[in-house]
Amino acid sequence: MTVILALLLAAAPAFAAPRPDLEALLKKMTLEEKVGQLQQAGGPIEGSPALLELAGKGKIGSTLNVRGAKTVNALQRAALGTRLGIPLLFGFDVIHGYRTIFPIPLALAATWDPAVAEAAARLSAREAVLDGLRWTFAPMVDIARDPRWGRVAEGAGEDPFLGSAMARAYVRGFQGKDPASSDSLAACAKHWVGYGAAEAGRDYSTTEISERTLREIYFPPFKAALDEGVLTFMSAFNDLNGVPASANAFTLTKVLRGEWGFKGFVVSDWDSVAQLIPHGLADGADEAARLALGAGVDMEMNSVLYSSEVPKLVKDGRLKTAAVDEAVRRVLRVKAALGLFERPYADEALASAAPDAAARKAARDAAVRSLVLLKNDGGLLPLSKSLKTLAVIGPLADDGAAVLGSWTGDGKAAEAVTVLAGLRAALPGATVVFSTGCAVTGDSDAGFAEAVAAARSADAVVLVLGEAGDMSGEASSRAFLDLPGRQLDLAKAVLAAGRPTAVVLLNGRPLTLSGLAEKAPAILEAWQPGTEGGAAVAAVLFGDAGPGGKLPITFPRTLGQVPLYYNHKNTGRPPSESDHYTSKYLDAPVTPLFRFGHGLSYASVRLSGLTVSAGKAGSYAVAVDAENAGAREGDEVVQLYIRRAAASVTRHVAELKGFRRLTLKPGEKRRVEFTLGPRELGFHGLDMRFAVEPGVYEVMAGTDSAPGLSARLTVAL
Ligand code: GLC
Repeated sequence: MTVILALLLAAAPAFAAPRPDLEALLKKMTLEEKVGQLQQAGGPIEGSPALLELAGKGKIGSTLNVRGAKTVNALQRAALGTRLGIPLLFGFDVIHGYRTIFPIPLALAATWDPAVAEAAARLSAREAVLDGLRWTFAPMVDIARDPRWGRVAEGAGEDPFLGSAMARAYVRGFQGKDPASSDSLAACAKHWVGYGAAEAGRDYSTTEISERTLREIYFPPFKAALDEGVLTFMSAFNDLNGVPASANAFTLTKVLRGEWGFKGFVVSDWDSVAQLIPHGLADGADEAARLALGAGVDMEMNSVLYSSEVPKLVKDGRLKTAAVDEAVRRVLRVKAALGLFERPYADEALASAAPDAAARKAARDAAVRSLVLLKNDGGLLPLSKSLKTLAVIGPLADDGAAVLGSWTGDGKAAEAVTVLAGLRAALPGATVVFSTGCAVTGDSDAGFAEAVAAARSADAVVLVLGEAGDMSGEASSRAFLDLPGRQLDLAKAVLAAGRPTAVVLLNGRPLTLSGLAEKAPAILEAWQPGTEGGAAVAAVLFGDAGPGGKLPITFPRTLGQVPLYYNHKNTGRPPSESDHYTSKYLDAPVTPLFRFGHGLSYASVRLSGLTVSAGKAGSYAVAVDAENAGAREGDEVVQLYIRRAAASVTRHVAELKGFRRLTLKPGEKRRVEFTLGPRELGFHGLDMRFAVEPGVYEVMAGTDSAPGLSARLTVAL
C-alpha cells in the first residue's frame, strides 16, 4: 500500500471502501486467507503485538475482548493493509449491559415485558460501539430448568414462550433496525443447543434430550432469534445425545441451515472445537477441526485448530474446499451486513464513559420492573417514609458487585447503587443503621448481636440476603441452594427481634428459602438488579414504584425436588394425597415454594369473564377482564395457558401461550385480548411434524401458572 493511501486510512477512520461482490472476493481468496476468516483470537482489552501481527498477516478474522477505539483501529488498519483488506469483527460479551449494567437477563425476563429487554440491549449496543465493538455474544437463550446450574442467571428461565419473546427483543435491541448502522452490534444466539439441560445442573455436563423435547422446549427461543434476524449463533460445549453440540451436524446443519435456512455464521464457544478431543469424539486436533467445520461451526473461538489443521485437511482431501468456502461466505455475509466494508473503523473521538443520568434512569426503570414481590403478609410493604430509624442488615446490603451479578461487561461495582445507598437516598431525614450481621459464606455468627441490636433500635428492618455476585454465572454450579453461610440463622435472629422486617434477595438463581419464607412477612426478589439496583429496591420498598415482576423460573421448596418446572407432564399417576401409589415424595410436597409466573403487586387485580371465540382462519380470539379491586395503582401480568388432556403424544399440564403486563388504577377494569393461532396451538406430533391437531383444548387465564379461569376450545380442522 502506498504511503499516501496509508495516511488516508489512518487519518480517515470513516474511510469507506465500496461494499464488495462477496462471491468475487471469495474467488480471489487463497486457502490461507479463507482460513484466516474462520479464526477468532482472544486477546487482552488493549490488544497485543501478537494480535497485530496476526491481523497484518490475515491470520484472524475476528477478536474477542479487545476493545477501545484506538486499539481496534490499529488492528483494523493492519487487517485492511493485507492483500484483500477484509475488515476484522470485534466481539465481546455484552450480556446485560456494557458500561451501564442492567439487571441480569433472568431478572429482565422477570419483567415479562420484552420492551424492557429491548431497550436495555439498545442502550448497551450504543455504549459498546463507542469502544469499537460490533458483535456481542448475546442473547443467551438457553432454557434452564435446574437452578443448580449457575447460568440460569444469564437466560430467560424455564419457559420457551417467554424465552422466545425475550430472544426476539434482545435481537431487536442489539442489532437495531439496521445492523449496518454504526450503533448496532451483531447479536449471537447462544448456546446452540441444549446447554441448560446439563446433567445434575453441573456446568459443561452431558445432556440427553429427546428430539421432541429439543423441538418443543430448547429450540423455540433460537428459532425466535433467527426469525428476528439474528446474524450469528454460538455452538455450545455440551455433549448432546452423544455428539457434542460443536460437532453436531443434526443441529448445526440439518435443523439450523436445512430446516430453518439460517444464513449467518456459527462461532464455536471458547475452545469448544478443541474440547471435542476430551469429549472423546476426536482423536486429535485435525479430527476435531474436521468434525467441527464439517458439521457447521464456521468460526473457531480462541483455540486455533482451524489455523493449524484446515489447510492440511483440505490438501489431504479430508475436508472439501466447498465446506470452507461456505463457512467463509457466511462470515463475509455478516461483515457486509454490519457495513464493515464501508465503515471498518471506530470513531476515535468517542469512547465509552461512566453511566450518564439517562442511562442510569433506564437501568433503574428496568430494575424496578424486574423486582418480584414473593410475599407481603399483612401488607407490610410499602414501608412508610415517615419512619425515623431504619436498620439495614445483611452481608450484601452494601455490596456493589452483588447488584451487578455475572458478565458485567465494563461495568464498575463502584458505580453501582447498593441497596444500602439506595435506602439512604430514599430516606434523607431518617437514621439508617447498617450492620452486616455475618459474611456471605462461612459459619461465624460473631456479628449477630450487633445486627439484632440494630434491629431492636429501628422502626423497621430491611434484611439483604442471598448470593455474592460471582456465585452464579458460568462455571458456578452449586450443589446447595440454601442461603449460603449463616444468613438464614442471621435472618431468624433478626426476625425474632419482632420489628417490621422485609427481606430483599440478591441472587442469580432460585434459592431454597424454606425456613425463611415461613418466618419473613415480606420478601422482595431483587435478583442482581444492576447499576441502579439499590435505587430500584428502595423505590419499591417505600412505594415510589410498585412491584410487578413475575417469576420466570420455579422456586423449589427443596433441592430434592429439582428439576421442578411448571410445564411438566401429568404422568399416569399424578400426585394425590388420597392415593399412596402416585407420583410424590414421602418427605416433601411436590409443589414449588413459589411457582412460575408468581409475583405480588400493590394492586389487587382480579380476572373474570374469560371467553374463547373463533377468529380468522385457524385462529381463536381469547379475552379476559382484569380489574384492580385494590386501593393502590399497580401492575399485574395476565397469563394465558393452554392444555390438552389428550393428544397424539402426551402434553404438558400447562403451556404459556400469551402474557400482558398491565398497570391498573384503583377500580380500573380492562379487557385483555389474545390470539391463539397455529403457532400457539401446534406441536410436534408422533411423526415429529409441527401441526395443529383437532381436539379439545383447555384455555386458561391467570396471574401465575396455576390459572384460575378456564374455557373449553374444540378445534376441528
Ligand atoms: C464463555 C461462554 C460464552 C462466552 C464466551 C466468550 O466460555 O460459554 O457464553 O460468550 O466464552 O467469553
